[in-house]
Amino acid sequence: MSRHEQQGQMKSIRTRIFVVVGVVLLFLIGVLIGYFSRGDTSSNHRNTATWDRLTREPDIQIRDKLKDNIDVENLRQQLREFTKSSRLAGTPRQKETAEYVSNLWKEYGLESEVVTYNVLLSYPEQGENTTITVFYNDGSQHIIYAEEPPLGDDPGGFAVRPFNAYSPARKVQGKLVYANYARDSDFEKLVEQNIDVTGSIVIARYSKGFRGNKLKQAQDRGALGIILYSDPADYIGIPDPPVYPDTWWLPGPGVQRGNVVTVKGDQTTPGLPSTWYAHRLNDSQLRDSLPKIPCQPISYNDARILLSTLGGNVVPAEWKGALNTTYRFGPSQVRRITLDVRNVNELREIHNVIGRIPGSVEPDRQVLLGNHRDAWVYGAYDPTSGTTVLMELARIFGKLYREGWKPRRSIVFCSWDAEEYGLVGSYEWVEENLKKLTSQAVSYLNIDSAITGNYTLDVRTVPLLRNLIYDTAKVVPDPFQPTKTLFDTWLERNPETTEPTRPRVEKIGAGSDHSPFIAGAGVPATYPRMYGTGANYTSRGTPLYHTRYETFQAYTMVDPDFTVAKTMAAFVGELARSLGDSVIIPMDVEVYAKEVRDSVSHLSEIRSRFPTGAMWLDGLQSASKNFSKAAMEFHTSLKKIDRKNPILVRMMNDKIMSVERAFIYAEGLPDRPRYKHVLHSPSGMNYYGGSDFPGLEDLLYKIGTNTGRWDQVKQHISVLTYCIQTAASILQ
Ligand SMILES: *[C@@H]1O[C@H](CO)[C@@H](O)[C@H](O)[C@H]1NC(C)=O
Ligand SMILES: *[C@@H]1O[C@H](CO)[C@@H](O)[C@H](O)[C@H]1NC(C)=O
Ligand SMILES: *[C@@H]1O[C@H](CO)[C@@H](O)[C@H](O)[C@H]1NC(C)=O
Ligand SMILES: *[C@@H]1O[C@H](CO)[C@@H](O)[C@H](O)[C@H]1NC(C)=O
Ligand SMILES: *[C@@H]1O[C@H](CO)[C@@H](O)[C@H](O)[C@H]1NC(C)=O
Ligand SMILES: *[C@@H]1O[C@H](CO)[C@@H](O)[C@H](O)[C@H]1NC(C)=O
Ligand SMILES: [Zn+2]
Repeated sequence: MSRHEQQGQMKSIRTRIFVVVGVVLLFLIGVLIGYFSRGDTSSNHRNTATWDRLTREPDIQIRDKLKDNIDVENLRQQLREFTKSSRLAGTPRQKETAEYVSNLWKEYGLESEVVTYNVLLSYPEQGENTTITVFYNDGSQHIIYAEEPPLGDDPGGFAVRPFNAYSPARKVQGKLVYANYARDSDFEKLVEQNIDVTGSIVIARYSKGFRGNKLKQAQDRGALGIILYSDPADYIGIPDPPVYPDTWWLPGPGVQRGNVVTVKGDQTTPGLPSTWYAHRLNDSQLRDSLPKIPCQPISYNDARILLSTLGGNVVPAEWKGALNTTYRFGPSQVRRITLDVRNVNELREIHNVIGRIPGSVEPDRQVLLGNHRDAWVYGAYDPTSGTTVLMELARIFGKLYREGWKPRRSIVFCSWDAEEYGLVGSYEWVEENLKKLTSQAVSYLNIDSAITGNYTLDVRTVPLLRNLIYDTAKVVPDPFQPTKTLFDTWLERNPETTEPTRPRVEKIGAGSDHSPFIAGAGVPATYPRMYGTGANYTSRGTPLYHTRYETFQAYTMVDPDFTVAKTMAAFVGELARSLGDSVIIPMDVEVYAKEVRDSVSHLSEIRSRFPTGAMWLDGLQSASKNFSKAAMEFHTSLKKIDRKNPILVRMMNDKIMSVERAFIYAEGLPDRPRYKHVLHSPSGMNYYGGSDFPGLEDLLYKIGTNTGRWDQVKQHISVLTYCIQTAASILQ
């Protein structure tokens, strides 16, 4: 062939290609026109199979299959496996359990990976003892060691001595003063009593608030150190009962461990993931951000010895515990008391496990459910009661997936490490994936300590998920009364005080791995648990919390047949299925708007306490009204949309998903920049709790005539107004 002929041929090939491409394009345009202009007539040209696949309604039989597949023997076996040794973060055992979980998840059919970070952890110094010494006036002394003897079915092996993580190593000496629960109001009471804690060591009881806030209160008021203990009044529900190992009540030598940091995540990389490239704070910066006074937990046996050194006035009834001693304010009447804490901080590796079932229609949309895997010692309740539920759900979801069920959205299973050190594993992962989660995460379900009792549900949640939680509880049977649903017994035993026609839900607060999701990324979250026994014990936790006695045996005292665990698996599994497979994300924006409206009207009730007129509240009311209106209109239009139109469905879902993000303010709360959710961040006074407007609560506290602070209040109210108005405009 000559060059000329070749060119001629090329030309004609090109022409033919153009014609073919043109025809194909025209055809595609036709298809697209048909696609988007489609009415209800079936005469339009469209790819019916694709269309149907994108908008198919969930297979409701999966709900029963999920429930029917839960196997109590698996739940029992997993609890036994995890509690056979201690699982302290940063130890070799925790690397092993990560591999165990990841391998099992792969076997179950999930995509799974171990994600490792290098973070600052805290331990009792090896070969040294933390001690508290009482020097009596007669020259004798009594030394209290940090120890907790094994009892019951303790599996033996390594068990970390009782300590408070991140307490500095320091020796202090002084008089002892009793501060009840070491809340702000308790210290105010001491001031009334003319007792100055400056230069003293404080002894206070656990319960009614996060221990890190107790330390901070004592530190801010000039105390030299703080000793925490669990009083029988708070950890035993009935007078003089048999205790562990015969029952689940806290025994004399039991000590609650726990961290005392109020800023969570890895302490060396605030706001950034602790990856290999991370810049870390230096030692002097760390000293500034970590607690400054030593803190140590002890048992009530040991506390009785310390409390009986106290002189001064007898305390009022609300300050009295149940030990056989006269509770006095102090100060101590002995020569002196020393507190010598020997802890060390070390960088160590932690290991999260992330398992995934890919969504079939919207694989980029993620429904996450997770629980931490590390424990202070054996952690049968905290976290393992939740971990067994998570493992069983991974198995069942994996099984259904392999049998052909494909959820609409991706379902992501998370096993966090180092939660006990301040939500470290989850924080680092959320920080690393923040932008992705912001655009892709539908919700996060936290199943830490899923079973701390056997009486009724305790649910912390954001308002968006409230109705879904109610609906889900209505299709799960009560563990012990099969004719009733979980909803029935929840309503009966734990109704909302202001609205007794519905079961009680609490503000989400912090205190477990949902915190980085909701307070940092604006991902709607919930944290459901079973708690209580119904007999004189109203605490949401277990009396053995964070002691060495959270053993397999202790768990079976509450749930011998694993029926409570089975119930929680059914409940959480159905929540995940529903969020992962419903065409329209089952969240209720009207509930959110109503909650905001109520909070704003509570605020308006105290308007008279604000300086002259407080005009700035008008904007807040206007935004709240706009949010309510937008939510109502959105709700109405949601009922009317064509559920067979995948673009419309995705559009509505994106709006639902984005509402929570409206409340994330990049600069964070006033003086607490790492908490970015203006409504669902923890309260500044108690890290475990929530409040209507956590930033305002901090600012208004003891504000008086502090004009500078009133200006901050005004500024923060405009932030709130802006966020609420943003929520309204997202829905419009
Ligand atoms: C620590 O205390 C134990 C008793 O609990 C004692 O046997 C040991 O010698 C002590 N170690 C040091 C370094 O004082
Ligand atoms: C529960 O408390 C009440 C009142 O304090 C007491 O009379 C009752 O005996 C207690 N129940 C148990 C099981 O101890
Ligand atoms: C730690 O970092 C701060 C801030 O960069 C710096 O001012 C300080 O000198 C550093 N201290 C040490 C001991 O390196
Ligand atoms: C309480 O302590 C006192 C004095 O130590 C003792 O006599 C009494 O028996 C104790 N009571 C109980 C119930 O243990
Ligand atoms: C619930 O837990 C309590 C405390 O251990 C126990 O006494 C009770 O028997 C349990 N109830 C059931 C139904 O297992
Ligand atoms: C609420 O909506 C009205 C009407 O669109 C608007 O004029 C007003 O500025 C909005 N309020 C706020 C706080 O943006
Ligand atoms: Zn936990």
